Parts: sequence; C-alpha cells; structure tokens
Amino acid sequence: MSTREKVADCIRSMDSAMRSLPVDISRIVLMARSHDTNADELARFLSGHRSLSARVLKIAKSPCYGRSGDIDSMSSAIIHIGFHEVVAIALGSGIFAMLASAGKGSDVEQDRIWIHAIGVSLAMNLAAKYARAPVDGFSMLTGLLHDIGKLVFHICLPREYQEVLQFHQADTMSLHSVERDLLGIDHGESAYQLLTRWNFPDSVCIPVRYHHDLIQCPFEYLHQTMILHLADYLALRAGIGYSGNINPEISTEVMTAMGLSQTQVDELTEQVKTMRAQADDFLGALS
Ligand SMILES: [Fe+2]
Ligand SMILES: [Fe+2]
Repeated sequence: MSTREKVADCIRSMDSAMRSLPVDISRIVLMARSHDTNADELARFLSGHRSLSARVLKIAKSPCYGRSGDIDSMSSAIIHIGFHEVVAIALGSGIFAMLASAGKGSDVEQDRIWIHAIGVSLAMNLAAKYARAPVDGFSMLTGLLHDIGKLVFHICLPREYQEVLQFHQADTMSLHSVERDLLGIDHGESAYQLLTRWNFPDSVCIPVRYHHDLIQCPFEYLHQTMILHLADYLALRAGIGYSGNINPEISTEVMTAMGLSQTQVDELTEQVKTMRAQADDFLGALS
C-alpha cells in the first residue's frame, strides 16, 4: 500500500471517531454551510450540548474577545462575537477533542500545533486588512484548521512523519516540499482529503489545500489563500506555537499582490506577537 493510500485509509477510519463524539460535527458543518440557518437555530443546537456550549462560552468570554460582561448565553455569544466565529469555535473544539483522542499515546505535542493554528486564526483579520479584499466568513475556521494535515500525518504515519521532520530540520528544504518528496503528499492535501470528506465548504478546503502552493490555487479562492499564507507566516515569525516548520517563508508573489514591504511585514509580526496571551487563553478553554 502506498503512503497516499495509507493516509486515505486512515482518514476514512476517523469517521468512527467522529461519530463517537457527543456532538454531531457534521450537523454543525451543514448548519454553517446553509444560508437558511439563523442564529436562533445555531444557538438552540449548541445549547443542547452542555460541555461543547460551556467551552464555546468560555472562549467567547475570554480576553480574546474582551466582551465577558455581555455574554451569558449562546445567543448573546453569537450576537457579540459573530455567527461564523461561534461556528469556528464549536467545530475547532469538537475536532480538537476528536484528534486528541485519535492521537492518544503518540509522541506528538498536539497543543503546540493547536497554539500555532489559533495564532493563525487570530492573525487572519489583521492579514486580511492588507489583502484589499473582504474577509470570508470562514476565515477564522480556515486559520484554525489550516495545518490539520500535519496532525493527520502524526496520527496516520507516526514513524514516517518523524523522518520527514528530521529531514526538514537537517536541510534547507521547506517542510511541505519534504512531505511531498518523502510521502508523496503534503499536509495541505491530506487536510483537504479530511475536510472534503467531512463536507466542509470549498472556501475552507481550498485555501487550506493551497496555503503553501499558491500557484496551483484556483483564482476564485486566491485572495483567501493569500490571507491564510500571510497569517501563517506572521504567526510562525511571531513564535506563536510550533508547526514543525523551522524555515517559515513568505511568498514574494503574496507580498507583491498585497503591496507589502518588509518593514510592514516586520510591523505586522510585532502586532501578532501581542496575540500570544490570547492564543494561550483560547487553547486553555478549548482543551
Ligand atoms: Fe502549513
Ligand atoms: Fe501553519
């Protein structure tokens, strides 16, 4: 069996872990995708799952959003922090629990990868200001899930992925290039396989797939993918979490398209550094 087939097989096997969660993740994805879902319906559904709604409220009330006094119910969380933000927190929280249990016993420090992912999701709005394009409603979720393919590798191919990380640390090649060379698939593609299987919308799946491969990205999703690429770079440079990537690189095409100078990138990095405590609070509430 090739490595690609092993990954595909392992992703299929995660369906049962998904089904065993106390909350139906696929139902939240469907609600988020549907234009007919209103805030009341989402609030009712999430309120019916005590531990999930407690986690969502904890994050909504955390210093990340600075609105603790106003939020006492799921409805007020949706009003104050937004429909898509609550969806992102709920899905992130469910998937965090699922992958933590799937990866139990492995060496991977999932928390450090999640801190990086949270840092990216928090940096998305800042990065979007420079993209000269409206922010997609799913941008926070896209940031949160962008490196989920690395967790897939840690869980599905633990030995092979350790070799990938060791090779990357001893070489100047980017991590996604080493993944492609040694595994035949990179973390963008493995994440894409997982997220499309779980019916996430294209506006999440496609930027996640191409965040290191902008040249291949369909034009319709290029702006969102550039925002993700920049936010990823800023979080790595700011030292928020760890993603296994020791040589973060920003695409010169992204800098040109956004009209960004190196000085501006340095300033943005300083702003993202201030989000560290928010990211820690977020993870504390998620776990
Ligand atoms: Fe990545
Ligand atoms: Fe990343």
